[in-house]
Amino acid sequence: MCGIIGYTGKGRAREILIEGLRRLEYRGYDSAGVSVCDGNVIRTVKSQGRISVLDEKIGDELPGTSGIGHTRWATHGAPTDTNAHPHASADGKFAIVHNGIIENYEALREELTRHGMKFQSETDSEVVVNLLDYYYDGDFKNTVMKATSRLEGSYALGIVCSDFPGTLFAVRNMSPLIIGIGAGENYFASDVTAFISHTKNIIHLDDGMFAKVTPDGVTIYNSIGAKVRPTYEKVTWDAEAAEKGGYEHFMLKEIMEQPRALEATINPRLKEGKFSPEGLESLDISKIDRIVITACGSAYHAGVVGRYVIESLCRIPTTAELASELRYASPILNERTLVIAISQSGETADTLAAMREAKKLGAPVLAIVNVVGSSVASLADYVLYTWAGPEIAVATTKGYTTQVAMLDIFAVWAAGKLGTVTPEREAELTSAIVSLPACVQRAIYLASNVEEIAKHSHKHSSLFFIGRNIDYACCLEASLKLKEVSYIHSEAYAAGELKHGTIALISQNQLVIAIACYEALREKTMSNIQQVKARGANVIAVAHETDRSLIAEADDVIFVPETEPLFMAVPQIVPMQLLAYYVARENGCDIDKPKNLAKSVTVE
Ligand code: F6R
Repeated sequence: MCGIIGYTGKGRAREILIEGLRRLEYRGYDSAGVSVCDGNVIRTVKSQGRISVLDEKIGDELPGTSGIGHTRWATHGAPTDTNAHPHASADGKFAIVHNGIIENYEALREELTRHGMKFQSETDSEVVVNLLDYYYDGDFKNTVMKATSRLEGSYALGIVCSDFPGTLFAVRNMSPLIIGIGAGENYFASDVTAFISHTKNIIHLDDGMFAKVTPDGVTIYNSIGAKVRPTYEKVTWDAEAAEKGGYEHFMLKEIMEQPRALEATINPRLKEGKFSPEGLESLDISKIDRIVITACGSAYHAGVVGRYVIESLCRIPTTAELASELRYASPILNERTLVIAISQSGETADTLAAMREAKKLGAPVLAIVNVVGSSVASLADYVLYTWAGPEIAVATTKGYTTQVAMLDIFAVWAAGKLGTVTPEREAELTSAIVSLPACVQRAIYLASNVEEIAKHSHKHSSLFFIGRNIDYACCLEASLKLKEVSYIHSEAYAAGELKHGTIALISQNQLVIAIACYEALREKTMSNIQQVKARGANVIAVAHETDRSLIAEADDVIFVPETEPLFMAVPQIVPMQLLAYYVARENGCDIDKPKNLAKSVTVE
């Protein structure tokens, strides 16, 4: 979704803003722009399309040492030059960048039009700059407060005013915004990636707060304008972690990073041979009689895996619910229902809304989240970080596998506390989780035939993934991965459901990928493979490396290493991620930035 960067200091703002915008590209965008303050003049350049187009359009122009920049992911109005941000007021006194949605923009636009103000764009954001212009009384801070008090919805704003060169205001309400503290220069951005090459010292702005940012300092205010003492934090990863490191794409780099990412998730949670995750000390699991996992997209798919694992080990009724549905479903939740919210970015609007609904109903909320200090982490009662490091490719890979591993750890921890597994079984499960990084390393090695398979399957226009139980959960994620990076239509089906209708679509050469790793139901999935083969389908099977019998049944087999059946979701998704990657590469797709998608989905 939209990305914001603000800079003030002694450097050339134009370069620093463009560099920051490039680092925010992964969030997904369709236009971009910057406003740079040169003395008392604000100059704005914006453009539809990629940052390189904007960079070229700016050329050597735009002197100045402070300014704001933006990548826009269109919501209100098409991705045109005019709708791109920054938006400037008619007299050029103010320019703003905005991430989020101003829900009352139509009423505000009507009101401001009645006062004679003119609008250039179709965006909701332009009302903000006209409100600033309308309320301006010579006091920048007061004007920001008056204007933002009229806004309803979610917003992160960056604001410059030509009467105050070098001073920026940053405002946050339900949309991410982080301040970067440098030496004689300061920053703000939608995420730290934008300024990580300049500083690792940050302040997380809370909802309702705003900041005055100058080269010499940052002052944080609450919504009534009183100064607030900030909490300083340090980012633990460096700029290199957010670079490709010799790989052709971030997606491939992040697939390959999974063994290391899993170690970072798993190892710190192990104390004296048992899982004892920091963050769960005060959670009394014996008081919980139901678990509801909620999330979006791949994080939801991790939740579907988690549901099988938790029910099996803890015997607590568990469901996985899409956050965008749960929030409007009048859910039945209370203090005995543990809600587990899962999110890589920690900023997903629907997940946050589902969490707020859960909290309103008195349910304790546990977050499994990657980005430290994110909104999901701040809102939760209990937090388990996945510590996967920065994930830049829009399609999640290490984000997903570390979420699944964290759910596995949670399930073993809870089962140990509840006594639903014996100490011997707990030890066995613990050691299986500790071996997951090595298992994933081997899954990468065993998947060496996937690139070849991609070469002869990338022309299919539609395919099916089938599997049962945890294999089915894995199909959901495999199908999404393929769709989003290669734009090939695919569906994930619980294998037993095929005969209830969908088998009508199976005809000669239809590609079916059958995941047949879940030992207890292997024979059942085998029958489903035979049913589709009998109707002419081409079958690629995914099976344990010891399961050689599938070579005779399927047209191609991808082998995965064997581990505890409940934890197979982690290694078995790896070849599916690679398949999606190689198919997309064969088809010449923009793998790290698929069309229409955004990394951090901060609007509903
Ligand atoms: C798919 C993908 C998305 C995200 C979803 C939730 O590859 O990345 O489906 O999983 O948008 O995002 P987070 O985990 O940031 O809440």
